[in-house]
Amino acid sequence: METIDSKTIMELDEKYVLPTYGRNPVALVRGKGLRAWDAEGKEYLDFTSGIGVNGLGYCPDGWVEAVSRQAATLQHTSNLYYTRPCAQLAQKLCQRTGLDKVFFANSGAEANEGLIKAARKYSADKYGEGRSTVVTLVNSFHGRTLATLTATGQEVFHHYFGPFNDGFVYVPANDLEALKKACEEHPVCALLMEMVQGEGGVTALEKGFVKEAAAYCAEKDILVLADEVQTGIGRTGTFLACEQYGLVPDGISLAKCLGGGLPLGAVVLGEKMAKGMGKGTHGSTFGGNPVACAGANVVVDAISEEFLAQVRRKAEILRAKLSALPHVKQVSGLGLMIGLELEEGIQAADVLAKCQEKGLLVLTAKTRLRLLPGLILTEAEIDEAAGILEDVLKSF
Ligand SMILES: Cc1ncc(COP(=O)(O)O)c(C=O)c1O
Repeated sequence: METIDSKTIMELDEKYVLPTYGRNPVALVRGKGLRAWDAEGKEYLDFTSGIGVNGLGYCPDGWVEAVSRQAATLQHTSNLYYTRPCAQLAQKLCQRTGLDKVFFANSGAEANEGLIKAARKYSADKYGEGRSTVVTLVNSFHGRTLATLTATGQEVFHHYFGPFNDGFVYVPANDLEALKKACEEHPVCALLMEMVQGEGGVTALEKGFVKEAAAYCAEKDILVLADEVQTGIGRTGTFLACEQYGLVPDGISLAKCLGGGLPLGAVVLGEKMAKGMGKGTHGSTFGGNPVACAGANVVVDAISEEFLAQVRRKAEILRAKLSALPHVKQVSGLGLMIGLELEEGIQAADVLAKCQEKGLLVLTAKTRLRLLPGLILTEAEIDEAAGILEDVLKSF
């Protein structure tokens, strides 16, 4: 393979790639497990997993083999034909979620679009057009397409790209009265929520709120939709975060960790919502691509009950170590979806930059430092990351 240094990669990127991302000054060329290397051979311990995507780490053997084999056998067919990886993955997702039917997409935003469409279709079929408003939560994040940007309950995202879609209203998380008021004032068909708001600052919803909101929605025939794009596929210690809330939603969106590093999203629907989504109601050229699905089958198979017990155990160890670090006020989130609230005056972005210098990759979410390590992390890697964080935090 052609060798190219980090500086050249960054210069090329800056010249030709639209600068919509605030990239870190690191060009990664190779990875294995939780380790990644730049072009000059500098090693990083990665506690970002590509923002919650590489759940099994970089280039896990079984996934590489399945993806390579499928790429060399049948890389794409269109959705006019049946393929085995797609059918088998759909079966597994239905078995694991208790829901009935899957639509495959390419990303989290696209999965949420499908979820919103299916909710409106259910309502239009049953109540006629117009009962189409979707309630989302303040501080939520649902994606960057126009509908999902509008669904995102953060004012900062609602500029420049208008006109935005009609049919979304926002209520504060954990505020049941506000939810009821919104449902009385608007023709609401669905409530869409993340069990743990990720981009919004790694904040878990209160269990009581989720339970009461679900009961209220059931009473009013308002669909409950769970955006499990970031929380799903084992990230929080259960296959879905909903399980820890005793919630069986009417529909779920999945992405990130599902493809193990290839672009794949999924809309998983209970029978009630699936019923209306017949031929021609939705589609996506690349959705259910056999190579992405072949990799996802390996990911879903790996997330066994035993594997999940290990995720919970390691999350507990990591969280205990993080709570004891200097300048850490609070450790938020659930399982291996972790936010660190730092004492006033310490900027998460500064901590991130110093960690990076010392070879540890971390994230931020709003004012918090954010960790989303691969689900396969070891106790030695926990110690190593906590050690680097301790050194960095001590320097403030
Ligand atoms: C909860 C949630 N929903 C949706 C999305 C959008 O996913 P994608 O970037 O794959 O479109 C994200 C991405 O961070 C997310 O965290």
